[in-house]
Amino acid sequence: MNSRGVPGLRPTYIAGLGTYVPPRLLTNEDLEKMVDTSSDWILQRTGIHTRHIVDPGVATSDMGKEAALKAIRAAGLAPGDIDLVVVGTTTPDMFFPSTACLVQHKVGATRAWGFDVAGACSGFNFSLTVASQLVATGRHDAALVVGADTMSSIIDYTDRTTCVLFGDGAGAVIVEPAVEEGLEIIGFEHEIDGSGGPALQMPAGGSLNPASHETVEKRMHYVKQDGQAVFKFAVRKTEEIARRVLEKHGHTTEEVALFVSHQANRRIIMSAADRLGLPESKVMINIEDYGNTTAATIPLALEGAIRQGRLKKGDLVLLASVGAGFTVGSVLLRWAI
Ligand code: ACO
Repeated sequence: MNSRGVPGLRPTYIAGLGTYVPPRLLTNEDLEKMVDTSSDWILQRTGIHTRHIVDPGVATSDMGKEAALKAIRAAGLAPGDIDLVVVGTTTPDMFFPSTACLVQHKVGATRAWGFDVAGACSGFNFSLTVASQLVATGRHDAALVVGADTMSSIIDYTDRTTCVLFGDGAGAVIVEPAVEEGLEIIGFEHEIDGSGGPALQMPAGGSLNPASHETVEKRMHYVKQDGQAVFKFAVRKTEEIARRVLEKHGHTTEEVALFVSHQANRRIIMSAADRLGLPESKVMINIEDYGNTTAATIPLALEGAIRQGRLKKGDLVLLASVGAGFTVGSVLLRWAI
């Protein structure tokens, strides 16, 4: 990722950021009319008030395209400059072609190759890492990284334990060789733990349980989760992976200017931040307005932090995520734009 200690690798940085959320809103008050819940319960237990939801016919690649075009513009590039497209998503438009192919075509990145990364809520961190590594080798010069999910397409809006949590959205960044010394993606630490699979999954639609009348009747094409198991794992692992990436690269929590965790639940983020000794002023939380947008939460949070004047050039930024799989990710960087 960076060149420190790895001969031959060049440092990389985030050269542009873009985001997109669909205009239609789904509020807690709307959900009160759909399932047995209350706006107060949702807000207190999750921190969420509003989510953005796509209209029928709008897919992950459509949102990814909007975010990608903004990121390309922000980096001062044209679509033809992009030579790699990596899309982190759990809700591809379809099994194949990959969403990377669809985004590549929609934005007109005619020189690029690319692929999807299935990292669930760690999809952005994993995709950013892969793209950064390919730029670091010198083989690529301008990688488009997209984190996008249409969670409303796999949510059971009769299940109050999951339908209150998720929203739709997309974020994108451009990764290029670093231009200013030290202002770079410093490093990453990731893990997967497949023993956690049953705690959070969509059981049907794949090769194990192909779509059938039975899978539809049993509502197996929706997110199923053991909320408490996910919650506990997420708090523990967010702290652990954050400490590991900081220690590995010789930084301390005190040096972190902004902690941008995956936005699944306000209580998960604040519990992890408390354990890390990070004050609320250093923690970016925008879950109230978006819910959990899976691979899109981190770029959406970065964009929110910039808009609020909380992210400046030179800041040490710590990204962390835990998601279905389980997947665990972290990226440490100096913000450079
Ligand atoms: N409205 C009202 N009551 C509800 C709702 C709701 N929407 N959902 C659950 N309840 C009820 C439960 O049925 C239960 O009732 P009971 O005691 O009569 O059985 C009660 O509230 C408490 O349920 P818990 O599951 O203990 O509630 P908890 O405080 O753990 O909150 C939640 C549930 C919000 C799902 C939490 O566990 C959570 O956020 N887990 C993490 C899951 C997650 O974010 N997954 C997303 C992807 S993975 C990731 O991004 C890390």
